[in-house]
Amino acid sequence: MIIYDSQMLVFAVTIELMIVLGIETSCDETAVGIVKDGYELLANQVASSMDLHVQYGGVVPEIAARSHIEAMTPVIQAALDQAGLGWPQIDAIAVTYGAGLGGSLLIGVMAARTLAITHNKPLYACNHVEGHVYANFLTVTALPGYVMRAQAPEFPMLAIIVSGGHSQLVLFQDHFKYQLLGRTQDDAIGEAFDKVAKLTGLPYPGGPSVSKAALNGNPDAVPLPKAKVGKYDFSFSGPKTAVLRAAQAMCGQDFSFPSYKLPEQLTDQQVADIAASFQRVACETIAEKAALACQEFKPASVVIAGGVAANQELRKQLTEALPLPITFPDLTLCTDNGAMIATLGCFKAMTAQPKANPYTLAIQPSLSM
Ligand code: KG4
Ligand code: ZN
Repeated sequence: MIIYDSQMLVFAVTIELMIVLGIETSCDETAVGIVKDGYELLANQVASSMDLHVQYGGVVPEIAARSHIEAMTPVIQAALDQAGLGWPQIDAIAVTYGAGLGGSLLIGVMAARTLAITHNKPLYACNHVEGHVYANFLTVTALPGYVMRAQAPEFPMLAIIVSGGHSQLVLFQDHFKYQLLGRTQDDAIGEAFDKVAKLTGLPYPGGPSVSKAALNGNPDAVPLPKAKVGKYDFSFSGPKTAVLRAAQAMCGQDFSFPSYKLPEQLTDQQVADIAASFQRVACETIAEKAALACQEFKPASVVIAGGVAANQELRKQLTEALPLPITFPDLTLCTDNGAMIATLGCFKAMTAQPKANPYTLAIQPSLSM
């Protein structure tokens, strides 16, 4: 009993002192967050190079990497200033080392390695997708403008991961003990939103612009198929191709009509109908499989992670389809940010996960969960 008490004391002291600075540069956002004890958000700073990519209809890796070099130091300083902290108060550094764009990851990882060496801090290497899940553990902040979750999710926890690069259902039994139930067999849901936007002439990034256009559309106007794949797997390439065929038919053209000419032929109402129909089917696909997983595995909580978690239709459908209440991270914590990496770093430190070697940590652009 005494041993148990003293262990509890050591554990409590360790948790209380754990302030982690997280660096995220896997795509176009140079993002730094500072989190205390895995639940309190002290700083969240994001510089995006999105404005530079919009004209190309997608992220240009070389431009993103160059922008990270310029933004890295000011964003780190802005996060420290926002938290009112200096390096002596930071207990550890966490960094995304995959998955993502090679050039972008390299800048964040090199910055984190250098800071870990020069300030003599432990370094934790984080999986970007796991980071998205951990945004759900943030419950407290004194920063203005955030709507935080009331409490941290409990285990077993079903994570619905819906981002630009990933769509998967993962069952967490505990921190860092999880089982991949299913994943997309082709495009990720965010990627499919982006491609539907491109086909219909809506601006990049496609998720927000498709959901905005969908507000004026009829979600039942365009019949779109749902792919028949494994029980918990997804496929978004079929509905995306069906959108292309439907758009060609709406313009009175056949399958040989080039997709880049479609935007000038579609009316605003047709674009809105396509957007609403695609959004309905994509969200239903996720909600139906998540409901099935809830039935089979009876999780104590369900969390949603990744940029598409910002989609209001998905939130509505999940709320209706799932047997237990689902809470969502603040919208700013759904898309790429450093706070989620700092949170993941806190839990790695608090549960004594292996540290990374700051002299050798390499990027892993195709890292999976
Ligand atoms: O998680 P994230 O910021 O980056 C990745 O790790 O991929 O997700 C970006 C994706 C993009 O595909 C974007 O179109 C999508 O999230 N997205 C949305 C919405 N906001 C962002 N998709 C649907 N509805 C939204 N409101
Ligand atoms: Zn992401």
